Amino acid sequence: MAAQINPSILSADFARLADEAQAVAGADWLHVDVMDNHFVPNLTLGVPIVESLARATDTPLDCHLMIEAPDRWAPQYVEAGASSVTFHVEAAAAPVRLAREIRAKGARASMALKPATPIEPYEDLLPELDMLLIMTVEPGFGGQAFLDIMLPKIRRTRELIGKHGLELWLQVDGGVSASTIERCAEAGADVFVAGSAVYGAEDPAEAVRALRAQADA
Ligand code: DX5
Ligand code: ZN
Repeated sequence: MAAQINPSILSADFARLADEAQAVAGADWLHVDVMDNHFVPNLTLGVPIVESLARATDTPLDCHLMIEAPDRWAPQYVEAGASSVTFHVEAAAAPVRLAREIRAKGARASMALKPATPIEPYEDLLPELDMLLIMTVEPGFGGQAFLDIMLPKIRRTRELIGKHGLELWLQVDGGVSASTIERCAEAGADVFVAGSAVYGAEDPAEAVRALRAQADA
């Protein structure tokens, strides 16, 4: 699959979200970081803003829920207009039931792992998912340094996906930039979240194209 680049609006200007979405109209998805100040020590946005953003852009929304009780909230993000919803396995009470519910509501179901969460205990869950997100920083903030120590986990996850013959996308999030994206792609990632590397660039649309070209090289 060709590499997909998902700019994270966490690094955008929250007072101008529609314009900031438009600035990366060539991106595959728009990554929306939902934080509740409980699962992570930061607070961002919720269902009403996702609803407005879904109306304001044609780019599909990839909602990354860094929140407690995703079992209760994730379905509401599908209703709000998200085309992909990622919950953290560390927070989910019933990840299989939740993934099935997200799919039944018509969105892609995705599960995220924090850096210290191994993939191996979840091997049997992979067929229930459309995407797996491997965090390459501790979730909570943009602009952190990429954790190289996550590369072996990306590699092992890619092997598991191959072993089971799955179509699952493998997303990386955190510190992805021109200097780290090639390592992620080489390890087997195919969906790349980039916040500061896109919105911190002088030309965000060009940054998306350049990252995609690097990942596909
Ligand atoms: C961090 C968020 C990321 C964040 C990435 O917890 O999940 O999506 O926006 O930002 P950068 O690309 O700047 O590391
Ligand atoms: Zn994210």
